[in-house]
Amino acid sequence: MSRAHGSATADIAVPSSEYIKSGASDFLPLKGTDYIEFYVGNARQAAYFYRVAMGMSLVAYAGPETGQRDFASYVLQQGKIRFVLTTALRSGSDIASHVQRHGDGVHAIALCVDDARSAWLETTRRGAKSISDPFVISDDRGSATLSSIATYGDTIHTFVERRNYFGPFLPGFEAVASDPFARPVGLEYIDHMVGNVGWHEMDHWVAFYSDVMGFSLYQHFDDRDISTEYSALMSKVMANGNGYVKFPINEPAEGRRKSQIEEYLDFYGGPGVQHIALATHDILHTVQTLRNQGIEFLHVPHSYYAELQDRVGRIDEPLEQLEDLGILVDRDNEGYMLQIFTRPVEDRPTLFYEIIQRKGSRSFGKGNFKALFEAIEREQMARGNL
Ligand code: FE2
Repeated sequence: MSRAHGSATADIAVPSSEYIKSGASDFLPLKGTDYIEFYVGNARQAAYFYRVAMGMSLVAYAGPETGQRDFASYVLQQGKIRFVLTTALRSGSDIASHVQRHGDGVHAIALCVDDARSAWLETTRRGAKSISDPFVISDDRGSATLSSIATYGDTIHTFVERRNYFGPFLPGFEAVASDPFARPVGLEYIDHMVGNVGWHEMDHWVAFYSDVMGFSLYQHFDDRDISTEYSALMSKVMANGNGYVKFPINEPAEGRRKSQIEEYLDFYGGPGVQHIALATHDILHTVQTLRNQGIEFLHVPHSYYAELQDRVGRIDEPLEQLEDLGILVDRDNEGYMLQIFTRPVEDRPTLFYEIIQRKGSRSFGKGNFKALFEAIEREQMARGNL
């Protein structure tokens, strides 16, 4: 088990050109992330957390009252971010067994397309496993076409074609006119979504996103970038043609103790979505409000802030305020970015959120990895998993 324990460096991540395609037409044009669907044990209570703590508004609902006999789904929105929380009404369904295996977690990353049939044809022709052939659903507000393919673990991608649909979400959902419980925090869009995959599987999934979905390698980090005294991981960031959709893929690497990725895989029961990064234009306000509403963030040691000015130079935000809130900063040659990570939002140490504000930088906070992972390890230690 010999390996180098390098330390994280503050230099910027240079996008690798090895996978960057030039001039090829995009066979899977994506307009962005349409929604993220979570399978949860109790959608009504989970929706309360996302409304009151995370600031999302309930905009649509489907369940027994709307004619669904087997599940209930709550559609939540803030800015362009749309989450769907779905729960099984009976045991024995796919939804119930997903929750039984993984706990609450992301089942579908839905991508908005102009042509869900073509998206399915192009990806399955290139080797994607089909989950749903293209199908049309409609109600009195129009029709939508959907199709789905498998990705890592039990996670799927659903292609959503909604140009002929004018309802609040999708056919079958009823609009919720206004949400008196929502407490918005200024979250605007999904910056990136990270998948954790098994030992030595990262390159397989990088090839999947490259060959099957037409994505390119955007940045990569190896265990010299992302390791602490105890724990290591490797990561490659895949991006679609227009850059609207970015999927970093992590795999565990050998360290003296258990990698945080391994801990995730143990508790999630295999590969899955590790974190979702949500963007804001005012991270000081967003994080202060989230904290007031009960969201818990990783603790960053004072030493991080003592060294910050030297590492990142002049920034607009007062250092004391950043330290009070525990916000991390990293700079590259294009600008800087501010980021912070929540603790896992369920009892299993699986899904967590990142709040991010970009001020020029398009990278992922490589200079913060070491400080951040040491914070995660303190939590792993407290859970007895390090
Ligand atoms: Fe991230």
